[in-house]
Amino acid sequence: MDLTDRVVIVTGSSSGIGEEAAVRLAGMGARIVVNSASSVEAGERVAASLPDAVYVQGDVGDPATATALVAAAADRWGRLDGVINNAGVTIDVPLHDIGAVRPEHWDEVLRTNVVGTFLVSQAALPLLRASDDGWILNITSIAGIRQTGSSLPYAVSKAALDHLTAILAKFGGGVRVNAVAPGLVATPWTSEWGSQKEAVSQMAPLGRVAEPADVVDACVGLIGSRYATGQTLLVDGGLGLVI
Ligand SMILES: NC(=O)c1ccc[n+]([C@@H]2O[C@H](COP(=O)([O-])OP(=O)(O)OC[C@H]3O[C@@H](n4cnc5c(N)ncnc54)[C@H](OP(=O)(O)O)[C@@H]3O)[C@@H](O)[C@H]2O)c1
Repeated sequence: MDLTDRVVIVTGSSSGIGEEAAVRLAGMGARIVVNSASSVEAGERVAASLPDAVYVQGDVGDPATATALVAAAADRWGRLDGVINNAGVTIDVPLHDIGAVRPEHWDEVLRTNVVGTFLVSQAALPLLRASDDGWILNITSIAGIRQTGSSLPYAVSKAALDHLTAILAKFGGGVRVNAVAPGLVATPWTSEWGSQKEAVSQMAPLGRVAEPADVVDACVGLIGSRYATGQTLLVDGGLGLVI
C-alpha cells in the first residue's frame, strides 16, 4: 500500500500499538500527527524519528485536543486522510470485582476510550470526507466482544466503541470506519502481566500473545480494504474461540 502524501492522526502513539502504527504508516509514505497525553518526551521522540511528522500533546477526552489534532494536520499539510483512534485507558479493578467499581472509574474510562474516540472522529470527519479515501480505524479489544478484559468499565467501553464504529460508518458520508479488536498484546501496558501472557499462550490456538506488529498488520489490511466499512476485526490468535 502506498500512502505517499496521505496524512494520518494516530492518537496515543508515544508507545505500544500506536507507536508501531505511526512508524509503519510513515514507512508507507504517510505524514503522521503523533499524540499522547502525558508521555510528551516519548511522543516527541516518535515524531522526530519519522520522515514527516508533528507531535501534539493532549488528552483525547478534552474537546480542545480533537481540534488541535485536526488543526495540526490542516495547518501543516492542508489535508487529512485517516485517523487511528488508539488512545485508551483502564482501571486497576479486576473484571469480576463488580463491587469495587466506582462512578469515577466510569468517568475516567469512558471519557478517554469512548468520548475521546468520538470527539476526534467528529472533528476529523469534514476533512476525511474531503479526501478521496478517508478512513477511521478504532482500536477496540476482545474485551468488548467476550466477557474478559482488564476491568468492567474497560470492557464495556470497548463494546461501545464497536457500536460507535458501525454508526459512524453508517452516517460517515462515505468515510470508511472500521475497528481492530486485539487480544493480549505485548506492550508497556501489559509488561507486568506475566501470568496472563502464559495463560493466553497456552489457550490461544496460535500459541502466543500478539506483538504490536500483529495488530498493525490487521490495521493495514483494513485501511487497504476499500469496500469494507462498519466492521470489527478480532485479532486474538483465536483466543475468542476457546474462552
Ligand atoms: N496491550 C493489550 O493487550 C491491548 C489489548 C487490546 C486492546 N488494546 C488497546 O490498544 C490501545 C493501545 O494500547 P497499548 O497496549 O499500546 O498501550 P500503551 O503502550 O500503554 O499506549 C497507550 C497510549 O495511549 C496514550 N494515551 C492514554 N490515554 C490517553 C489520552 N487520554 N489521550 C491521549 N493519549 C492517551 C498513552 O500516552 P500517555 O502515556 O501520554 O497517556 C500511550 O501513547 C488501547 O486503546 C488499548 O485499550 C491493548
